[in-house]
Amino acid sequence: MNTLVLPFVLLFFPLVASTTTQESFIQCVKTRFSDYTKTFEIILQLLLLSAPLPLLIVTPFHESEIQAAILCTKKHGLQIRVRSGGHDYEGLSYRCKTPFILVDLVNLRSVDINLEEEVAWVQSGATLGELYYSIAMESKVHGFAAGICPSVGIGGHLSGGGFGTMLRKHGLAADNVIDAYLIDVSGRILNRELMGEDLFWAIRGGGGASFGIILSWKIKLVRVPPTVTVFTVSRSLEQGAIELVHRWQYIAHELSEDLFIRVIIQDVDDPNNGAARTVQAAFNSLFLGKLDCLMPLMNQSFPELGLKVDNCTEMTWIESVLYFAGYKKDDPLEVLLDRNTLYKSYFKAKSDFAQEPIPEVGLRGIWERFLEEEIVFMIMDPYGGKMNEIPESELPFPHRRGNLYNVQYLVKWVQNGVKASKKHLHWMRMLYNYMTPYVSASPRAAYLNYRDLDLGINGKGEESYSGASVWGVKYFKDNFKRLAIVKGRVDPENFLRSEQSIPPYPALKKGR
Ligand SMILES: Cc1cc2nc3c(=O)[nH]c(=O)nc-3n(C[C@H](O)[C@H](O)[C@H](O)COP(=O)(O)OP(=O)(O)OC[C@H]3O[C@@H](n4cnc5c(N)ncnc54)[C@H](O)[C@@H]3O)c2cc1C
Ligand SMILES: *[C@@H]1O[C@H](CO)[C@@H](O)[C@H](O)[C@H]1NC(C)=O
Ligand SMILES: *[C@@H]1O[C@H](CO)[C@@H](O)[C@H](O)[C@H]1NC(C)=O
Repeated sequence: MNTLVLPFVLLFFPLVASTTTQESFIQCVKTRFSDYTKTFEIILQLLLLSAPLPLLIVTPFHESEIQAAILCTKKHGLQIRVRSGGHDYEGLSYRCKTPFILVDLVNLRSVDINLEEEVAWVQSGATLGELYYSIAMESKVHGFAAGICPSVGIGGHLSGGGFGTMLRKHGLAADNVIDAYLIDVSGRILNRELMGEDLFWAIRGGGGASFGIILSWKIKLVRVPPTVTVFTVSRSLEQGAIELVHRWQYIAHELSEDLFIRVIIQDVDDPNNGAARTVQAAFNSLFLGKLDCLMPLMNQSFPELGLKVDNCTEMTWIESVLYFAGYKKDDPLEVLLDRNTLYKSYFKAKSDFAQEPIPEVGLRGIWERFLEEEIVFMIMDPYGGKMNEIPESELPFPHRRGNLYNVQYLVKWVQNGVKASKKHLHWMRMLYNYMTPYVSASPRAAYLNYRDLDLGINGKGEESYSGASVWGVKYFKDNFKRLAIVKGRVDPENFLRSEQSIPPYPALKKGR
């Protein structure tokens, strides 16, 4: 993330040495398009991170331009990267160590809603905010089950799983995908029927980038009530936060599917002592129904929280999207169309799955460690409900029954620099080590969309299946092998590869 798009239109990058490759690449594209300069708009993108710049950035308006980009990239022995919303935690959508072409899908972002059939076709370059907004313009009683941050791109999100406030009722975003158009490594455009069920399975959670460039997705809209209720109640250590979080672990996954209560642990200024910091837990909730149904539910299942009517607000579903994104209920819905992430800092994130409640003493250790860092979050998203009903092998995303909640750890910092980064990365890894006894093991599971290169990366050149299994089973468990088999069928030469791409299985023999 953290990229800045400038409105320059350039023919090619002045900063790159290899102009001969560029020229011959452009020549290759020109032979496919007589009107090259009009069809290909190339923008200069300043990458804030010290990564090699792409040879070219292609921002296609039409699928044929993507086909040309793939074929010409292959012909020139270059790499290709595809970016939808650009939110990849490790920047894999726009960074590459070897010379590469960047395909940015920012111009492919239409949303076509068919209310009669309760479905929509959405292009990969749209954001979640654009999708939610488009749905709300057409209906007050439909929504889509996906992530919370509106600037996240459809392409990465749906191909990696995708979850938000409605996962307990409707599952993952990927669970609600019913068709897709993809361009494969040979430049063919395939829908579900043409690509076959194996490949269609793989792109719903296995990460799109290993398998092709996904143009668009057909999704099932979900019904939402005209009125929903939200609340956020925070408790500090002194107010019994640890006991409450401890209790929450026993009930959040068993609540009604209409009730989603996540916990955000973060360090904040101590209200009683201006100079000091304290760590608090916020219980942040969406209820798919009215306040008068929520109160008795909470009273019955989580009275310890002491929720009051005054703590809750009734609103429409789309207003709850604004609320969870950090906007006010009355902000214009158009804020959802802002493609720039709210986040403009450096950060490192990691993820875990908890299968048993963490004892109070374990939670206390988290609090102690949080006080040692500056800007840190731990977000716990409850599972259960619909997630329990879907078998592990249904989609590549395997984290279903048996998980109480997902954990995301996040540390942010403003000042760049090797020393600063090192310090924060070290802290994050230390926290991750500390959590070992409390979370899933063998494998220690992780969520692909919270990508973490610490888990392991592919070696140079030859990607080995067994080598990649080290990180592959953490994201996919037993589904990793099936992903590798699909990869072996659709991209046996391993053209689409990155630090964490699925390797083909069986492996390519050397010398062929
Ligand atoms: C601020 C923030 C909030 C988030 N909130 C949530 C959340 O609530 N729930 C959740 O589940 N996740 C969340 N995420 C994680 C998010 O789902 C992933 O980062 C997701 O992969 C981002 O998709 P993107 O299109 O924006 O990213 P990109 O960086 O564009 O892509 C991510 C990966 O997918 C590949 N890819 C992208 N488009 C395509 C395509 N069309 N075809 C093939 N491959 C493609 C890229 O090459 C890259 O490997 C959040 C991330 C951030 C930064
Ligand atoms: C919840 O409501 C109670 C009673 O009205 C109030 O004292 C408390 O400050 C509220 N808490 C939050 C987080 O709004
Ligand atoms: C909560 O439940 C208790 C006991 O069942 C009852 O006495 C009380 O009135 C209820 N409170 C609310 C706000 O529903």
